[in-house]
Amino acid sequence: MSDSLAVERRGPIGLVTLNRPERHNAFDDALIAELTEALRSIEAEDAMRVVVLSGAGKSFSAGADLNWMKRMAGFSLEENKRDAMGLATLMRTLAHLRKPTIARVHGAAYGGGVGLVACCDVAIATVNATFALTEAKLGLIPAAISPYVVSAIGERAARRYFLTAERFEAAEAFRLGLVHDLARDDDELDEKVGGIVDAMLACSPAAQLAAKELIRAVANRPVTSELIQDTAERIAKIRSSPEGREGVAAFLEKRRAAWVPPEPPAGN
Ligand code: COA
Repeated sequence: MSDSLAVERRGPIGLVTLNRPERHNAFDDALIAELTEALRSIEAEDAMRVVVLSGAGKSFSAGADLNWMKRMAGFSLEENKRDAMGLATLMRTLAHLRKPTIARVHGAAYGGGVGLVACCDVAIATVNATFALTEAKLGLIPAAISPYVVSAIGERAARRYFLTAERFEAAEAFRLGLVHDLARDDDELDEKVGGIVDAMLACSPAAQLAAKELIRAVANRPVTSELIQDTAERIAKIRSSPEGREGVAAFLEKRRAAWVPPEPPAGN
């Protein structure tokens, strides 16, 4: 792995950090491939329960590396399509990851950086973080990220921010639902991210995966008899699953479920 990405496994938590601070963590084809690979490898490890995505230095991410975009402009349409699939694959890998994901957002999140935020299950930002979908200003469109950004902020807000490339503040990102919570500063950001990590670790990994799949199955779908049937099948299946049985039994027996990490010893 290059220095552009740092991956640390801290107990059950995978800390994935974009590490090109001199470029505000803009990503090119190489970093996109590395990040995709790192996410897949964490996804494959049973011991990993949660992924926290963040950026080193002043910004979360300034999105696509514009030097890479410039370079690609000289290639054929076919080569461009192949190349663009890399970013689309990264976004889908992150959005559909079989583990819960958290975006820890500070500084600038622009273009593809907004995409990464939208792809995470939970996003928390400092109040002075800034956001923008600058593509149109550059003569581009936010294509690969659009399914996730439109799903996060809605079609109405997408029309404004895709078409104006305006910069918006964290308070607006919060109002739009792009981020779930705001923090005063980096310290409070870490505290709040830690709180979400703890909440996630208290939940059943199998249920979290099933919940992510459930959301994808019901979001923006008409409530047909097939859909109702599908939801009934999902709850029927998970009730009788090992983690379904364990979670309910643990509650009734007033004990910790098997997947909950033990309390750290007092004083830690
Ligand atoms: N791709 C390539 N390089 C980038 C970049 C990007 N997306 N974003 C920033 N950089 C580079 C700058 O060119 C600059 O390089 P230099 O030191 O060689 O001049 C360096 O990172 C520092 O950026 P700078 O603009 O001087 O920092 P800043 O603090 O004033 O502003 C940003 C930071 C992120 C707000 C600003 O750089 C910016 O608007 N970047 C473009 C982001 C964007 O539109 N992304 C969407 C791409 S589709």
